[in-house]
Amino acid sequence: MRVVVLDGARAASEAVANFVARLLEVTPDLVLALPAGRTPIALYGALMDCHRSGRADFGQATVFGLDEFLGLRASDPRSFRAFLGRHLLDHVNVSRQRIHGLNGAAGDWKKEVAAYERQIARAGGLDLAIVGIGRNGHVGFNEPAEKLPPRTHRVRLRPDTRRANAATFGGQWRDVPTHALSMGMGTIMNARGVILLAFGRHKASIVRRALTGPVTTVVPASLLRLHPNVVVVLDRAAARSLLQ
Ligand code: GLP
Repeated sequence: MRVVVLDGARAASEAVANFVARLLEVTPDLVLALPAGRTPIALYGALMDCHRSGRADFGQATVFGLDEFLGLRASDPRSFRAFLGRHLLDHVNVSRQRIHGLNGAAGDWKKEVAAYERQIARAGGLDLAIVGIGRNGHVGFNEPAEKLPPRTHRVRLRPDTRRANAATFGGQWRDVPTHALSMGMGTIMNARGVILLAFGRHKASIVRRALTGPVTTVVPASLLRLHPNVVVVLDRAAARSLLQ
């Protein structure tokens, strides 16, 4: 695992965007997994800039959303699919047929998660999974637990995670869905490369636990240390507990 610390979230986001742009040059049919959350917004802005200036061509790329709230359709503005559209996918030249998201409103979630795994396999697997980290160590919506289902699955969200997502639901954490669908840690770990982003001092303590504590499902992000090709990109604030 490589850890890269940059001065601020903006510099870090630009560095990752430039890396993705270069990857798209050498692998135009790149298969990406992308997260929602506040963390990747600057990265998505930087990727849009790269696209506008002709440095990032998504014409043959494939995108998979990492996770989705159960019960929400893609057209619901609170869905992660809508978030990815607003912040990136509506502004770059990804073909609609190659944008995949978990359908939170699927009648049969078991069929939906199995179909998602098949879509990922049909795309040739994930080349690069870009992920954030929740303050409790979750990745996607893989919540801390004694055991984790390895593949895409339904998750019961913890109250702290529902609180962290309350802003999207009018500030009312009880309005945040109780469940979500998420790629599993195994699905993410099967990606050929993983970039974990964490910015801000509120992430410093979980970053330290994930990178220096035991590798455990209780801190799902710590499992990424078992992956042979992971880069952790931090700003100084998120790295402060590592640097002390
Ligand atoms: C959310 C998402 C994750 C995201 C994390 C951190 O609940 N399911 O994919 O990485 O929490 O969010 P943020 O970037 O807003 O801190």
